[in-house]
Amino acid sequence: MKEGVRVLIAEEEVDKKIRQMAARISADYKGKTVHLVSVLKGSVFFTCELAKRITVPVTMDFMSVTSYGDDTKSSGVVKIVKDLDEPLLGKDVLLVEDIIDSGRTLHYLMEILKGRKPESLKLITLLDKPERRVKPVRVDYTCFEIPDEFVVGYGLDHAQRYRNLPFIGVIGQE
Ligand code: IMP
Ligand code: MG
Repeated sequence: MKEGVRVLIAEEEVDKKIRQMAARISADYKGKTVHLVSVLKGSVFFTCELAKRITVPVTMDFMSVTSYGDDTKSSGVVKIVKDLDEPLLGKDVLLVEDIIDSGRTLHYLMEILKGRKPESLKLITLLDKPERRVKPVRVDYTCFEIPDEFVVGYGLDHAQRYRNLPFIGVIGQE
């Protein structure tokens, strides 16, 4: 038996949705500059595709976090491994996430970012698994809600592999 990846959301479908979201964001941020904050590494592919299609001015920054806890369950206490380069004060910040699972990491991260006094703070996620939510998170833009399955591709990894797949897939046997 060989490990294979079943397509859950095809490349064309992801691209189409990102175009639609970028159009919405461009309208919502008319007259403003949107400051995209991307969480490494999973959100990078999504952030780039989204940024390319936004028509208002865009600035970008990146951060990397780990959550304390065992391998299977994040504690929700976030440690910043790489912080942002720029302050958020007065900026219209859009946090870009790859996936929201329990919501623990994000709940904590949003509090940290709020404390830096941005002009506004919104959240966009490529994927959401609402069934898994433990901590409440207010999501402003959701591209796709998915069932409780472990997904890879479009930046998402399993043991650091599969991030480069151009679609969203589920690991299985073939
Ligand atoms: P949580 O919301 O604090 O539980 O953690 C979310 C993080 O867990 C995400 O940013 C991903 O790094 C990881 N994660 C959760 N579900 C998946 C999945 O299906 N595939 C890949 N990574 C996942
Ligand atoms: Mg992530």
